[in-house]
Amino acid sequence: MTPQEAAQQLLNGALVVFPTETVYGLGALSTDDEAVKNIYSAKGRPQQNPLILHIADRSQLDELFLSVPGAAQKLIDHFWPGPLTLCLEKSEAVSDLVTAGLPTVCVRMPKDPIAQEFLKAVGAPVAAPSANLSGKPSTTRFQDALTQLQQDGVFFLEGNDTPLGLESTVIDCTRSPIRLLRPGSISQQEIEKVLAQPLIFEDQEGLITSPGQLLNHYAPKGKLTVILGNPLDRREWMKEHQTVSTMLGLVGTSKGFENSNHLILAEEEGDLESYSREMYAFLNYCDAQGAEEIFLEAPKNPQHPLYQAIMNRLQKASSENIIRL
Ligand code: TXA
Ligand code: MG
Repeated sequence: MTPQEAAQQLLNGALVVFPTETVYGLGALSTDDEAVKNIYSAKGRPQQNPLILHIADRSQLDELFLSVPGAAQKLIDHFWPGPLTLCLEKSEAVSDLVTAGLPTVCVRMPKDPIAQEFLKAVGAPVAAPSANLSGKPSTTRFQDALTQLQQDGVFFLEGNDTPLGLESTVIDCTRSPIRLLRPGSISQQEIEKVLAQPLIFEDQEGLITSPGQLLNHYAPKGKLTVILGNPLDRREWMKEHQTVSTMLGLVGTSKGFENSNHLILAEEEGDLESYSREMYAFLNYCDAQGAEEIFLEAPKNPQHPLYQAIMNRLQKASSENIIRL
């Protein structure tokens, strides 16, 4: 299916899974209330969890936001198109179904060329959460999106593996100081540098959804244990605790674990770009393999700009089941 064909399906009221530079999205025409409702049912998403709007062109912003304050404009100029989502007061034109009744709306302009072509062909804002069943790992491989969301009324626009692998950074510009609602591919430090002011981190994904939901975010079916610490200590711990059926997510080589069921997420402790790209693919692989127990090494590199977002996802995916060595 071409981006233009996918756009036509969307304009006809269907849902379309499409690639972005972060993760795959599940889109609906944002002005079509029935289609937006279908997003919630296709994902099994709680009604109180609002959706992000995706646009191809900055001129589309005027009809979505009441106004764009200076700080937000700075972020737009610096980071769009790209993995940054801005939350501002919404205009009348934005449906309450998109924002789950909130007076604010989140908007982003993806950088991925296929996403851009698709959004241009639609010509209107596309509401799209990540393309996964509610509570399950996001999808960064076309096949994983297909596995999770193949159902009536959902069309698929195929793209490459998503190059970043972590969702966009979500920034709330309606309050002062500005809030970081979700750490993502663009780091808190990078944003603070552009704004020349500190952000306050307020984990929105825990606030908007019910507390029980937080425990069930990005989670594979099997029991996930995240292991933090020095590489040698991590390996020793895994050797001691693994069983024949444990699935391993490794940082470094597979030395000593060649005969264990494993995937390598990054070969170097410092390669958090690779780790981000592989993280959801690993969790989806665990589900595809029916893994019941999963040990996942986290890289020891807290200074790295991607560390905060990676740990944020791992905390949720594991329900805070983290071994600190
Ligand atoms: O990278 C991404 O952002 C991907 C791709 C597909 O663009 N999308 C994505 O959407 O991650 P989703 O729905 O999985 O996550 C959107 C997050 C949720 O935590 C939601 O609660 C929050 O943004 N959100 C959306 N609208 C909001 C609003 N008006 N106020 C506060 N948080 C909002
Ligand atoms: Mg999501």
